[in-house]
Amino acid sequence: MKICCIGAGYVGGPTMAMIAKQCPDVSVHVVDLNQARIDAWNSADLPVYEPGLDGIVQEARGRNLRFSTEVESAIAEADMVFISVNTPTKTYGTGAGRAANLEFVEKCARQIARVSHGHKIVVEKSTLPVRTAEAVKRILSTTGNGATFDVLSNPEFLAEGTAVQDLLNPDRVLIGGESTQAIEALASVYAKWVPRNRILTTNVWSSELSKLTANAFLAQRVSSINAISAVCEATGADVDEVARAIGTDSRIGPKFLKASIGFGGSCFQKDILNLVYLCEHFGLKEVADYWEQVIILNDYQKRRFAQNIVRTMFNTVSNKHIAIWGWAFKKDTNDTRESAAIHVARDLLNERAQLHIYDPRVERKQIVADLKEVFSDADGHLTPTAQNLIEKNVVVGTSALAVAAGAHAIAVMTEWDEFKTLDFEKIHGSMQKPAFVFDGRNILDNDRLSQIGFEVHSVGRGGN
Ligand code: UDX
Ligand code: UDX
Repeated sequence: MKICCIGAGYVGGPTMAMIAKQCPDVSVHVVDLNQARIDAWNSADLPVYEPGLDGIVQEARGRNLRFSTEVESAIAEADMVFISVNTPTKTYGTGAGRAANLEFVEKCARQIARVSHGHKIVVEKSTLPVRTAEAVKRILSTTGNGATFDVLSNPEFLAEGTAVQDLLNPDRVLIGGESTQAIEALASVYAKWVPRNRILTTNVWSSELSKLTANAFLAQRVSSINAISAVCEATGADVDEVARAIGTDSRIGPKFLKASIGFGGSCFQKDILNLVYLCEHFGLKEVADYWEQVIILNDYQKRRFAQNIVRTMFNTVSNKHIAIWGWAFKKDTNDTRESAAIHVARDLLNERAQLHIYDPRVERKQIVADLKEVFSDADGHLTPTAQNLIEKNVVVGTSALAVAAGAHAIAVMTEWDEFKTLDFEKIHGSMQKPAFVFDGRNILDNDRLSQIGFEVHSVGRGGN
């Protein structure tokens, strides 16, 4: 069997590498328009940082895994084509700020139709609004030259930072489709390493909606515990204790109850906005409002964290040196899309703070690009003030210690393990006093830090 995957991103790359590793008899060709990205997949320095991914790519690349920009020939040769291109939130026209931009998916469908002969299975891997498969099917059947297609929905549930483990040992694989033959063809690929009872099949729309719903429920849990973190701060309770207490109820469960500066990542916000748009479209206003509140709460949590910093530091951070530890939206990834750190940094820069930023996996170029984007208006314009703030008030350092030297405060944005085991006596000695720590991830040992002399403020701990 020959598989082609269009889109060599955070989803397409790792997923195809795992299929190639587990199915040596299947030839897997990953294509992308972006030459630099493909070059990186073919190098020792992969474009996606994921623990354990290097070894898998090395094992399969050159054997049955290929990365190239030869999109058309790869599609033409394949029996099964995965669409794994990005579907960002629309920034213009109807549904701007909510609906998914399906431009790339439609282009892929047209391209597949144009170059295909015989029969192909087309698999939606990108997260899509409900009933997109229907549109893809129509494009395929009306623009092609006699080729026939089955369209399946096969949403990805991997989380970044643990992608390899999630792919290796998924809770479930979901395949939505009409044709039992096509479903079986895809199921037999996963069945090489995933137990059959974890391969669920549904109709196409249930599959599409399940992906949006899973992300909405997960994001809702984070917003729920973050909402309680505000109550904890106001009343003197400890959100980690509350999380532990409720998480022992087997109906609630212990996972995904970590209070934070707010969720980020490419999926949660986009998928909830998508769900909200869908509900509005079908006239379900109350349902749309219900889910939108998850985003409203998340925005509040990011804003609240920045405001707490300013308030605690005597109501001004102007020209104060604040060390920002972490920029990625979670640990063990180099992905910064929708990272809460970007929003907190913007708010602090608006207060004229001097930010010294360090992330073990994110480079200066990305940090500056993220700041430019968050300060830009809808047309991508930056005010001279914002431009000036990014140029003059942002330093990107090479270690957590380096950015903390001389700082008035440290703000922990990402829960990288390396932040837990630093020489805090040395760090305290190098900082201005009082030396503030704002732990946005509750990963540091409060008592120890307080003994050293830090003034520690954690998310969801009373007495802050
Ligand atoms: C994407 C979607 O965002 C997500 O909703 C879905 O579940 C899986 O695919 P991700 O892999 O994280 O997630 O996106 P990204 O890292 O942006 O990769 C998409 C790739 O597609 C990019 O490398 C881009 O260059 C490529 N692309 C995009 C094409 O090759 N052709 C196109 O027409 C558009
Ligand atoms: C998510 C889904 O988990 C995954 O199934 C889907 O395929 C894509 O979207 P991802 O965004 O990669 O994965 O990471 P995830 O671990 O879900 O974290 C998302 C955000 O929530 C991160 O910013 C994380 O820090 C935050 N989070 C998560 C919390 O703040 N608290 C938690 O308890 C869990």
